[in-house]
Amino acid sequence: MKKISAAAFCISLFMASCTPKASTAGPIGPAVSTAEQIAQGKTIFENACGRCHKLPDPTAHTSVQWVGIMNSMAPKAKLTDEQHQWVYDYIVSVKK
Ligand code: HEC
Repeated sequence: MKKISAAAFCISLFMASCTPKASTAGPIGPAVSTAEQIAQGKTIFENACGRCHKLPDPTAHTSVQWVGIMNSMAPKAKLTDEQHQWVYDYIVSVKK
């Protein structure tokens, strides 16, 4: 239930921004997520990215390296495209 309403909320945000497919094409650009989405990214990161290895340190890699790491790790963590984007934006937000 909670998950479904969160997803519906996020879909509406994506529709409002008119770029629903942005995260699937090539390298991800500068942070486009809202603070709300970045907060979700942090939660997803903490829950999904420490299962197979210890939680990675966002500052241990550059934002460019993180694009490649996330491209290989998002499928392992079974993230949706949106979750992939939010986790990436969270990681990059930690580095600034
Ligand atoms: C299903 C298991 C699994 C999950 C879930 C997972 N990882 Fe990994 N991760 C691995 C394995 C296995 C390796 C080492 C082999 C490799 O690089 O593919 C690794 C390596 C890494 C590395 C080191 C890469 C490098 O080049 O030094 C980072 C950083 C990383 N993962 C981040 C993440 C993040 C962020 C998430 C969450 C989105 C995540 N992982 C979720 C299995 C997983």
